[in-house]
Amino acid sequence: MNQGEADMASKTSKVSVIGAGHVGSAIAYALVLLHECQEIVLFDRKLPKAEGQAWDINDVVPLLWDINITPSSNYEDLADSDVIVVTVGKNPEEGETRLDVLGKNAEIITSVMKELDKVAPNSVVIIVSNPVDPLTRIAIEASSRPESLIFGSGTVLDTSRLRSQLGKKLNVNVEDVHTYVVGEHGESAFAVWSNALIGAIRLDEFCPYTGEDLDKFKQECIEATIKRAYDIAERKGYTNYGIAVAVSQLVGSVLRDENKIFTVSVKALADYRIGDEVVLCLPCIIGKEGVVRKLLLSRNSEEQHLLEQSATRLNEAYNSYNRE
Ligand SMILES: NC(=O)c1ccc[n+]([C@@H]2O[C@H](COP(=O)([O-])OP(=O)(O)OC[C@H]3O[C@@H](n4cnc5c(N)ncnc54)[C@H](O)[C@@H]3O)[C@@H](O)[C@H]2O)c1
Repeated sequence: MNQGEADMASKTSKVSVIGAGHVGSAIAYALVLLHECQEIVLFDRKLPKAEGQAWDINDVVPLLWDINITPSSNYEDLADSDVIVVTVGKNPEEGETRLDVLGKNAEIITSVMKELDKVAPNSVVIIVSNPVDPLTRIAIEASSRPESLIFGSGTVLDTSRLRSQLGKKLNVNVEDVHTYVVGEHGESAFAVWSNALIGAIRLDEFCPYTGEDLDKFKQECIEATIKRAYDIAERKGYTNYGIAVAVSQLVGSVLRDENKIFTVSVKALADYRIGDEVVLCLPCIIGKEGVVRKLLLSRNSEEQHLLEQSATRLNEAYNSYNRE
């Protein structure tokens, strides 16, 4: 971001982060470091927690830019937010997947959305809490704001993880690695290899491998990508820095109407042939109005099958929650 863009972003922009835990506080900190906005409200039902995190971040403000971080446990403080990031909820315990905590987090998200509709009905809402795909679906259903104003952080981080691995393994700058991780943000996520490009060259042609070796290379890359969050959580108990920067990029794209493409959690286009209710991670243009346009990815028959598998898993999780 150049100084002109930074000045534009910093003039009127207000971002609220709900949940001042590991993820929410890291997002607030990343927003400050990346100078994404002028005002941040860090909200938690436990005010001392919001205060502790906000004060800690506020201490560096004199060394950086003029940004105001307000701790809060009062929903009224969220009024006029341009973007609200929702990070409340429980993390999966050891041995649990993200889908296992759906029931616990769904109730929280429903009540949060009702409060947000009262105080900030026009804000763009980004859901980060897991399992992010079904929780985004529940958030869309619980809220009366237009669907385009709500999306989940999806597989933005997974895509970054895969690009980073490919860049390292193929010895290419990550900026020249173009590929998407789509489907569920979770176990059934997959890479759309048929569209992967290194520079303007198809991955299959660029790779030094062929046949089974190429398949093995791709399999190892996607497995490591999916496992990555668990590998980190096994060591430090949670993940937060990666998702914080991924979310800051989404926030920046909204505030500056950048129209960047990200794989976020949205209701799939009917053209994907998986129904029009399931929410999963697909590429979209993100701008001032939230989801500006959902994109249709070309995919081969194997990738269509994987997309259907993700949709089935997510529909089952959603339906089992709805029956409880
Ligand atoms: N989408 C992703 O890629 C991604 C990555 C990492 C974590 N997450 C998810 O983010 C969520 C938060 O993780 P964390 O590590 O920050 O958890 P955490 O326990 O550290 O923080 C959660 C915070 O939410 C607050 N909270 C709970 N219910 C609330 C309510 N009703 N109103 C207001 N505040 C409330 C708690 O007081 C706590 O401070 C989890 O669901 C986690 O799985 C998502």
